[in-house]
Amino acid sequence: MPVSSSVTPRSLQQEGARLRAKPTDTEPGALKVDALVVPYLQGETLGPASAAVDRALDGLLSRMIEDHEVTGKFPERAVVSTLGKISSSRVVFLALGQPEQLDGYRLRNALQFTVRQTRRFCRSMAVLIEPGVVAALAAYDPAQGDTPAVAQAVAEGVALGNYHLGERKTGEDGGAIEELDVVGLGTGTEIVRALAAGAQFGEVTNRTRVLQWRPSNLLTPTQLAAQAETVAKEGGLQFEVLERADMERRGMGALLAVARGSHESPKLVSLRYRPKSKARSEKVLALVGKGITFDSGGISLKPNPGMDQMKADMSGAAAVIETMSLIALMEAPLEVIAVAALTENMPGGGAIKPGDVVTAMNGKSIEINNTDAEGRLVLADALAYAADRGANHLVDVATLTGAAVTAVGLGVTAAMGTSPELLAQLQRAGVLAGERIWPLPLYPEYEVALTSDIADLRNTSGTPGPGASYAAAFLREFTGDLPWVHLDIAGSAYHTQSQLASLVPKGPAGAMTRTLAHLPFQMV
Ligand code: BES
Ligand code: MN
Ligand code: ZN
Repeated sequence: MPVSSSVTPRSLQQEGARLRAKPTDTEPGALKVDALVVPYLQGETLGPASAAVDRALDGLLSRMIEDHEVTGKFPERAVVSTLGKISSSRVVFLALGQPEQLDGYRLRNALQFTVRQTRRFCRSMAVLIEPGVVAALAAYDPAQGDTPAVAQAVAEGVALGNYHLGERKTGEDGGAIEELDVVGLGTGTEIVRALAAGAQFGEVTNRTRVLQWRPSNLLTPTQLAAQAETVAKEGGLQFEVLERADMERRGMGALLAVARGSHESPKLVSLRYRPKSKARSEKVLALVGKGITFDSGGISLKPNPGMDQMKADMSGAAAVIETMSLIALMEAPLEVIAVAALTENMPGGGAIKPGDVVTAMNGKSIEINNTDAEGRLVLADALAYAADRGANHLVDVATLTGAAVTAVGLGVTAAMGTSPELLAQLQRAGVLAGERIWPLPLYPEYEVALTSDIADLRNTSGTPGPGASYAAAFLREFTGDLPWVHLDIAGSAYHTQSQLASLVPKGPAGAMTRTLAHLPFQMV
């Protein structure tokens, strides 16, 4: 079932989406927008509507292809002025690459790049979707090629393009596309709804991105907890926050250990959504996020280069918090709890030291041999807490290991866990959200790497090996045998590498915000 069908455009409007997206069957040459986007596939003949636009421009695109001025490779873009030949001011010829390589992730990124390039001087945009593009998406995955799913993907891509990095630049308005017309997918109510949902999904993802990129002096655990409370209020969700004293009472020694080196108060926030109509399932899903608002490494201090990026080590928490507004909006069919463990990891005088032993909420003793492996410590208590609060299915999201980046690369989330069924559901949700998720192994034997001389386990192996899986093996000890999947977003949360800037949008991605919103619908 496409999730968009449970969303009414009215409820979306109330949320005040900035992008207004609607379908149209106006002939493309007669549209009057600032930018008419014509996506095309490498090596394929132009679709009928695109060919008509090309003809109206005296065969400009076909000549550019013939002259090898454009190659059709993803994500090449040619912005041309129409000089009054058609009623839209500009046409963007947007290359999607080879048809067999086109997935929803690429489509969204292609549109996102287009918007980043044009939003300074364009307010309105139309996107022309040819049957060939729908067919290519369907060949990748039938659900993704469903027309409402394509419509949602297009609106998401455009909305995602409206995000800009310069939150604190003075006197700069990045500009935004405000009106979107989508041509070629029909104009039925399903498409109307899917476009409205797409705008909303894109904008909530952008809210995650804003939080990710906000520096740690402007987004402390306290400030992030306040943002979570706002999300809860707006969505009519229950909100709870545990303070340091509550954590002490509950024996959350692992989370408290990380918080000791900082002057900022740690917070453990939870947001609970209960379906209004009777839940279609007994399942209670917990979404658990790592919320380190700054990761210095602690006493196991990180080296200088790139340490500034550790302001985004709360990306998992931001995703689970913001996704709750989509879960409320779409009226998910089961109970969902978001739990975010928020603290800094700093080397202050009270900081934990390598070799220290602490006891987690579930009673297990942990030797902390590396204070930079702090994410798994805060998640240990957050996972046990989620189970304690009634969750019977667990998903955690965390910028957990550099090893995950090495294993799957940028733009890809690594998944490990104890439930093949929940993993499959997450991967389905990922396909619908246009986010890439790839599994890594989690064998029972990995626990040997975490054997400690003095405690039940230690927090790192201290030897080279499958680091992402070792981290997951650590977390497994705190999941109380519930079905659980761990999502390591160290590679997908954000990126700053210029050589990849043409393939993956630079900056934060809001990773897993949309996937987690689709997940409950895949679980019934
Ligand atoms: N937050 C980091 C992981 C990370 C690295 C995220 C790069 C994004 C980009 C995490 O807390 C960490 O420091 N992990 C260590 C674990 C190691 C000490 C076992 C790592 O990956 O080096
Ligand atoms: Mn760390
Ligand atoms: Zn970290």
